[in-house]
Amino acid sequence: MAMGYRVVVVGATGNVGHEMLNILAERQFPIDEITALASRKSMGTEVSFGDKTLKTKDLDTFDFTGWDIALFAVGSDATKKYAPIAAKAGCYVIDNSSLYRYDHDIPLIVPEVNPDAIELAVKRKIIANPNCSTAQMVVALKPLHDRARIKRVVVSTYQSVSGAGKEGIDELWDQTKSIYNPTDDKPARKFTKQIAFNVIPHIDVFMDSGETKEEWKMVAETKKIIDPSIKVTATCVRVPVFVGHSEAINIEFEEFLDEDEARDILREAPGVMVIDKREDGGYVTPVECVGDFATFISRIRQDSTIDNGLNLWCVSDNLRKGAALNAVQIAEVLGQRILKKG
Ligand SMILES: NC(=O)c1ccc[n+]([C@@H]2O[C@H](COP(=O)([O-])OP(=O)(O)OC[C@H]3O[C@@H](n4cnc5c(N)ncnc54)[C@H](OP(=O)(O)O)[C@@H]3O)[C@@H](O)[C@H]2O)c1
Repeated sequence: MAMGYRVVVVGATGNVGHEMLNILAERQFPIDEITALASRKSMGTEVSFGDKTLKTKDLDTFDFTGWDIALFAVGSDATKKYAPIAAKAGCYVIDNSSLYRYDHDIPLIVPEVNPDAIELAVKRKIIANPNCSTAQMVVALKPLHDRARIKRVVVSTYQSVSGAGKEGIDELWDQTKSIYNPTDDKPARKFTKQIAFNVIPHIDVFMDSGETKEEWKMVAETKKIIDPSIKVTATCVRVPVFVGHSEAINIEFEEFLDEDEARDILREAPGVMVIDKREDGGYVTPVECVGDFATFISRIRQDSTIDNGLNLWCVSDNLRKGAALNAVQIAEVLGQRILKKG
């Protein structure tokens, strides 16, 4: 009898796919067989899985029959075409794109926050992973909401270029070098303005309301994952950091919550690491969170301008908690609660 799962990583040559393979190996996910898929042009490209090397296959011709779980990290267009094919073949899809996140019959899961939503997955065999900025924020908000009921959140993000895929990383790298070599001009392509030595208050498309789609996602996803009554307003900003998203979060509660109690609650919360010393360097910055599983919380302090307010600083590896780690954690919940192999 098979003791583990047959797992497919879709988009294995990308930033998130690469981290999915790392994390499946690091967490010793029970795997009987694993395969790596990408586009046809990447056929035969080698990717690492623990101490093994896998040769990438073509998603377009892959047969998902008999595979248990497919972790998708290919963007909405390819997901739209291939996720229903995988689900129809009986393979559970855990998707990183935004395509299915807002469908009422598709669960949107952060395992530390709403693991019970997995029960809904049996219907369409597709589970959505949230936006990277939402995932780390809800890990911080949920334990505080359970204690003092959150009314409103004001969040400003400082999002790394890896959130825009391989092209985002390349653009920051190339532009940074070209600043020192004016003959080698590297104009903005992936981003809408120069990203090197700059910040850009624009991620994803503009909506009629004036907010960007990235900002709207944080609002809609927080409501779906934690509580529809929480009001959220966001400003999402791209910054010249390779990996690691940061967020300045202001929270207004129904009840008073003392900063020391909030710190104690967060210290006990799953997936959270509190680093909060009121001294030079007593907080976490994005470069320190790279490769880590935790969502780091620092700068916890009362907001004295409102009755029941707190401010905090939240940092996490966007390729991990914001994408690949969360997807693997969902696979773990799926295995424990639904597939139950082994
Ligand atoms: N980066 C983040 O922080 C983050 C966070 C949350 C969610 N996500 C989402 O995760 C997904 C992947 O992001 P990423 O940052 O890993 O992007 P990426 O580095 O640009 O990688 C994209 C991957 O998708 C594959 N792909 C694209 N179109 C394909 C097609 N038609 N058929 C087969 N394979 C195809 C690419 O294969 P080739 O190499 O062969 O082109 C590559 O493996 C996106 O939906 C993104 O929105 C990303």
